[in-house]
Amino acid sequence: MALFRCLAIALALSFSSCYLSTPSSATPSDGFLRCLSEKIPSELIFTRDSSNFNDVLVSTIRNLKFHTNTTVKPICVVTVTDASHVQAAVRCGRMNGVRLRVRSGGHDYEGLSYRSERSEVFGVVDLAKLRAIAVSTDKGVPMAWVDSGATIGELYYTIAKNNPELAFPAGTCPTIGVGGHFRGGGMGMLLRKYGLSSDNVVDAKLVNANGDLLDRMAMGEDLFWAIRGGSGESFGIVVSWKVNLVKVPSKVTVFNIAKTLDQGTIDVLTKWQYVAPALPNDIIVRVMVQGQQAIFQSLFLGTCDKLLPTMTSRLPELNVTKADCSEMSWLESAAFINFGNNETTALLNRSSTGASGFVKIKSDYVRRAIPKGAWQKIFSWFRKNGAGLVILEPHGGFMGTIPAGATPYPHRRGVLYNIQYITFWSGNDDGLTAKSWVSNFYGFMGQYVTNSPREAYVNYRDLDIGENVVVNDVSTFDNGKVWGKKYFGANFQRLAVVKGMVDPTDYFRNEQSIPPLLQSY
Ligand code: FDA
Repeated sequence: MALFRCLAIALALSFSSCYLSTPSSATPSDGFLRCLSEKIPSELIFTRDSSNFNDVLVSTIRNLKFHTNTTVKPICVVTVTDASHVQAAVRCGRMNGVRLRVRSGGHDYEGLSYRSERSEVFGVVDLAKLRAIAVSTDKGVPMAWVDSGATIGELYYTIAKNNPELAFPAGTCPTIGVGGHFRGGGMGMLLRKYGLSSDNVVDAKLVNANGDLLDRMAMGEDLFWAIRGGSGESFGIVVSWKVNLVKVPSKVTVFNIAKTLDQGTIDVLTKWQYVAPALPNDIIVRVMVQGQQAIFQSLFLGTCDKLLPTMTSRLPELNVTKADCSEMSWLESAAFINFGNNETTALLNRSSTGASGFVKIKSDYVRRAIPKGAWQKIFSWFRKNGAGLVILEPHGGFMGTIPAGATPYPHRRGVLYNIQYITFWSGNDDGLTAKSWVSNFYGFMGQYVTNSPREAYVNYRDLDIGENVVVNDVSTFDNGKVWGKKYFGANFQRLAVVKGMVDPTDYFRNEQSIPPLLQSY
């Protein structure tokens, strides 16, 4: 611990001399852009004067709410193709007092990878072109190095084409960027068997606030712990990740069963809450509630014949039959879950989930099953104007065995499921009805979900739960705690201490970045 403190003080001193100094002869933007042009090929730099600046900026925006005339946009987007470009961008930014935001797949629900809530001069480092994936089975251990700009669909496809009995646990939407997903966790259909994406990361290459490129050994275990789910953009720019691959059988089984209120969905849902987290690890049954029905969607790592006896004994109310089952390869299941068909090449389409909508998302965790009587009231919310949907992701299984402090993601033992509240609207609408629906519904749900803190998932970013306050050019720990405890529980303080060690003057910051906590605090 003494060593830890000394390191923090030494780093703070070394940073204070070179941090954000602005040459007096030029504006920060001029100096920054000049510096970039000296170090990075010009065809990779798009300034506001570039004719295709807008096309590049919007290329991976997934929430049109953040592409308006009043959105605070970057002064440039740098579409890096090499780690050295990332290093150059950080050094130019530091030298000229211009901050950077980093974008991999652009799916951030609050758009923080490419826009700012406040008036601010910043550049975007866009990693979409940095997307190599190298699968290896050296010494019999299957693993891959994957660049942050790859999508999880590309990762799934590349792994399975290498060996159809290998896979990786990550989300259900194939266009999500690896960089943003892993830096916040990454939950999907293999969650109960193998945990989050970030649980399976074994090394990484990160450019820190000095512009140095560090691997796990060079960055040390505290920083390596922090970037695996602890809001990676607060600590640097992760260029690539080394991940352990996981085993799947040659055939898996999926089903989608819809049950309306009239068909007894409340009985099934009430029981599902404690059955789903206690099922064998190789079964996940998640739920989508919309309108007056719930859809039970499952992935089982095995054949239908093996799945049926378990489902019949554990959740007979769902009445799963052979006719409900579809057997396929794991890769096909990744396509099926998202597109409803087995067309696996669609997983490579980086715009298959385009920027077509305006969205607001919130999240919760449930540790005590919601009583049957409450579900009736919950369903009444889906009859209101502006109603969206909710997705319930069961935990338990392997997730429940991981200690809360093993990685920054704390929602482990005792969590029954995560709730994601989603509401959409179109461009012709001001979105007020939809936004007030999600906010009021979230308010109503407060009585049934975790509190003190009311837990939330950092990958389902929600600025309503709190934003940083910057004092003397540094985000404050006390204000950060308001939202930070919800995402990270007791891990928030450790994240802030790591931030204080590696970026004490808060170069890498956004509205919900980890604030630095110096040991003298
Ligand atoms: P984006 O590029 O916007 O980055 C998100 C955040 O990570 C930003 O703060 C950014 O600065 C930071 N960041 C990005 N790259 C970084 C890097 N290389 N180094 C450091 N920081 C970096 N989640 C889930 O767990 N399971 C799911 O099934 C889904 N499904 C889903 C569907 C859809 C349609 C959307 C829009 C989102 C999801 N998500 C999800 C949420 C998703 O995991 C979350 O938004 C990720 O952060 C997105 O990562 P991107 O790289 O795409 O986003």
